[in-house]
Amino acid sequence: MPAKILDGKVMSAAIREQVACRVAALKDRGLTPGLAVILVGNDPASEIYVRNKRNGCEETGIYSRTIRMAETIRQEELEAQIEELNRDDAIHGILVQLPLPAQLDEQAALAKILPEKDVDGFHLINAGLLMTGGKGVTACTPKGALHMIRSTGTDLNGKEAVVIGRSNIVGKPMAMLLLHENCTVTICHSRTKDLKTHTRRADILVSAVGRAGFVTADMVKEGAIVIDVGINRVDGKVCGDVDFEGVKEVAGWITPVPGGVGKMTIAMLLVNTVEAAERKLAGD
Ligand code: GUN
Repeated sequence: MPAKILDGKVMSAAIREQVACRVAALKDRGLTPGLAVILVGNDPASEIYVRNKRNGCEETGIYSRTIRMAETIRQEELEAQIEELNRDDAIHGILVQLPLPAQLDEQAALAKILPEKDVDGFHLINAGLLMTGGKGVTACTPKGALHMIRSTGTDLNGKEAVVIGRSNIVGKPMAMLLLHENCTVTICHSRTKDLKTHTRRADILVSAVGRAGFVTADMVKEGAIVIDVGINRVDGKVCGDVDFEGVKEVAGWITPVPGGVGKMTIAMLLVNTVEAAERKLAGD
């Protein structure tokens, strides 16, 4: 039987609806949640992501501000902009669109964002809180992927989870979230030997590699939940890391690209922004 589709369009629409209700409740109490996105340069992929984020804000009633900065700016200019947004009471979430141009130090810039306004969950404090099981802001893509995994209703206790990719923004936080769900977690990466022996054991397989067609049917366990985080462009068409047509014949559940995890990333950004505004109102 072919895999069931985990539909990011449907799932994210439901989340956006809940966000819109929470935004309306905050507005009733005199607070409009605000998100600021800093876009440095004009990378075409980043332009699309930023536009989608702005549309998500518009749809849910979140105030959004896009700050465009020239490709050639210096580190001090970027950090001064972040500090200005830290002080701005109309802004509850700050996001610096990555990647940044090569002359800029990404980690140093992210460290300037107030942890409570870090709606990406990339600040060291939030990364550390995730690691130690504390209450911080969780990175949007892994948070969205976990929502999709949970939606299958599978008991995750003791399940084998394999994450391919060890980035700070997807692979590592994804592994931590699955560990908190009591999965037995393996992180695979470019130096992993005999990748297939690992992936074939996975009840939950998450791919965040960035290579089209990387995960093939022979790498997947029968009935597995397969989450495709990849966003690749082949001949102008967007596709994920997973050979969807082949893998859907083996997996139990699968996310499509487009219309999968990407939609959830934006939905979770809106959730993180509304939560930041709710915390502000509660005085936390
Ligand atoms: N670039 C690609 N994905 C992301 C993301 O989730 N957040 C930010 N800030 N930049 C990105």
